[in-house]
Amino acid sequence: MRIHVADHPLIAHKLTMLRDQETESPIFRQLVDELVTLLAYEATRDVRTEPLTIRTPVAETQGAKLASPRPMVVPILRAGLGMLEGMMRLLPTAEVGFLGMIRDEETLHASTYAERLPEDLAGRQCYLLDPMLATGGTLSAAADFLVERGADDITVICLLAAPEGVNRVKRDLENFSRPFTIVTAAMDERLNDKGYIVPGLGDAGDRLYGVVD
Ligand code: URA
Repeated sequence: MRIHVADHPLIAHKLTMLRDQETESPIFRQLVDELVTLLAYEATRDVRTEPLTIRTPVAETQGAKLASPRPMVVPILRAGLGMLEGMMRLLPTAEVGFLGMIRDEETLHASTYAERLPEDLAGRQCYLLDPMLATGGTLSAAADFLVERGADDITVICLLAAPEGVNRVKRDLENFSRPFTIVTAAMDERLNDKGYIVPGLGDAGDRLYGVVD
């Protein structure tokens, strides 16, 4: 497993605004969108391409185009939805599958409550979107789901990660021998006793879309 912490002054600036508890939902959503586009540039560094010969007004030349099958972008509902547009801006021809995961706040156990994805993901590069890699339970369960459907190359894009979550995903995916990459805007200090990332940004879903009782 490879982990890439994006180190860029624009990312640091936007992330600081995002963390601020005074930042309201409309600006929070806009910042998430912008951050994801910046992270997507890093996350797609190994996106598969194939050669393409074209003719410019001056000469024939060899270029590249995205390979088939097209990449699959998978936001994990609900908070991952806030990352979708920012990702699709860079990969507009990708396909989108949806995975609804819910975390029991007592046991912190993640389970799937909805999915809309092809049965066969063999040969697909998959980009999982989830803003907070906290305990790692949701991400591990989501990655398992994709691996069971045949995905052989998974990149996770998150905004914040906690060391505990990264270690858990590393442990859980120990037997996955294909490329697995986590791209995050920052690696935070730790989790608190409620499973929140510290210093973090609070509940990403609530800050994007409001509190659900
Ligand atoms: N999910 C969130 O939205 N925030 C956290 O800090 C941890 C999990």
